Amino acid sequence: MSDAARKLLVIVLAAGEGTRMASNLPKVLHRVAGRTMIAHVVDSAARAGASAIAVVVGPERDDVAAEARKAFEEAEVFIQAERRGTAHAVLAARVALERGYDDVVVMYGDTPLVRPETIAALRGPLAEGAAVSVLGFRPADPNGYGRLLTEGGALVAIREEKDASTEEKSVGLCNAGLMALDGRAALAILDRIDDANAKKEFYLTDAVEIARALGRGAAVCEAEAAEVAGVNTRAQLAEAEAAVQTRLRAEAMANGATLVAPETVFFSYDTKLGRDVVIEPNVVLGPGVNVEDNVWIRSFSYMEGAHISRGAIVGPFARLRPGATLGERVHVGNFVEIKASELAPGVKVNHLSYIGDTSVGANTNVGAGSITCNYDGVNKHRTRIGANAFIGTNTLMVAPVTIGDGAYTGTGAVITEDVPADALAIARARQVNKEGFASRLRERLAAFGKK
Ligand code: UD1
Ligand code: MG
Repeated sequence: MSDAARKLLVIVLAAGEGTRMASNLPKVLHRVAGRTMIAHVVDSAARAGASAIAVVVGPERDDVAAEARKAFEEAEVFIQAERRGTAHAVLAARVALERGYDDVVVMYGDTPLVRPETIAALRGPLAEGAAVSVLGFRPADPNGYGRLLTEGGALVAIREEKDASTEEKSVGLCNAGLMALDGRAALAILDRIDDANAKKEFYLTDAVEIARALGRGAAVCEAEAAEVAGVNTRAQLAEAEAAVQTRLRAEAMANGATLVAPETVFFSYDTKLGRDVVIEPNVVLGPGVNVEDNVWIRSFSYMEGAHISRGAIVGPFARLRPGATLGERVHVGNFVEIKASELAPGVKVNHLSYIGDTSVGANTNVGAGSITCNYDGVNKHRTRIGANAFIGTNTLMVAPVTIGDGAYTGTGAVITEDVPADALAIARARQVNKEGFASRLRERLAAFGKK
């Protein structure tokens, strides 16, 4: 049977407490590259071609279940009522196992960076007859990991740190926590695991020795440490973030983006970049950003939930919030914030502005310091600005309000009523010059100071 034809069940273990995170949030809900660890793992399982994904969560963890389903809608959720070890957790999904699959892969919710390709490689030995296949790696510090014990290249056992002898602890090859099992043998193996060990837990890792006792083979598949390192602490969460950012930056450059200082640019798991995009140093792209070809993002810009069309220039110091949609060749300059607004092609908002809940027609110029007053303290209102309009410096647009095509607003205008197309709106007090008043004013002020 070809690998692709083998039916795959992935079981994701996420019933961990994560006490070493010192957090009120379950460990697997902490985020890496803008997405929860559990969603990363479930998404990777789905992309590896899983026919079914079972997620094992602790009691009353609807939040974890919901995150898993965000990544794969049909994910089945099982509850492990008591935390009695990794094999015990896998068996919480017994109903799914009993349905019968060719391959079963167990993944840990706290190991977020495993790629679908690695899951495929791990399944390889099953197609060749192994009952168990284990993902191994060589961490800089093996402390705390299970050690993979081999004899003449064959995997004979996994020894947990707490149960290991001094000699076994010197082994550098460790268990990453991913295991593939022959679906026909999985239940027979799992049901034989007991809790006779230092932690009195049902260890999934015992599957290796049991498979061998049943006369079946066990294989090791090696992976890079950066990909399979587990997250048990905030420091490890930061390491995982660094590893995924390194991966995302490399992908961005391979796909034709110029990153002037890659180590200072931060992407999200779902960032989309076109070709010949240039990103200057110190830029953060939060979730949901789509950047088309030939866009130039200048330093110190921060964006999330934004679409930037080809040829646009953003920043320096620009902030794009969810729903910011920039048309082709739009310029958004320094200290400008755009939220839930559509800027048609050629629009310029270059200095010190807030544009929220607004549509702006093609080639309109929004002058420095212009603000849409979209919030009255209770409701949000929309502003509509037509095409080829000229919004004078420091215009306040008090929404809801519409400014027609080709209209002008005078500098410093407070626009509270609609402006027809092609009209000039002046909405500020007329200037009064009082000759000679300056010196008299100074005398008065000086006299006041002496009192
Ligand atoms: C486990 C492995 C160890 C491996 C390491 C890699 C076992 C016995 N040990 O140790 O060999 O080197 O991962 O990171 O498998 N979980 C449950 N229910 C439980 C226990 C655990 O759902 O009753 C889940 C946790 O949420 C976590 C995963 O299983 O996602 C692993 O559990 P954890 O306690 O982190 O195991 P480690 O001590 O890290
Ligand atoms: Mg762990």
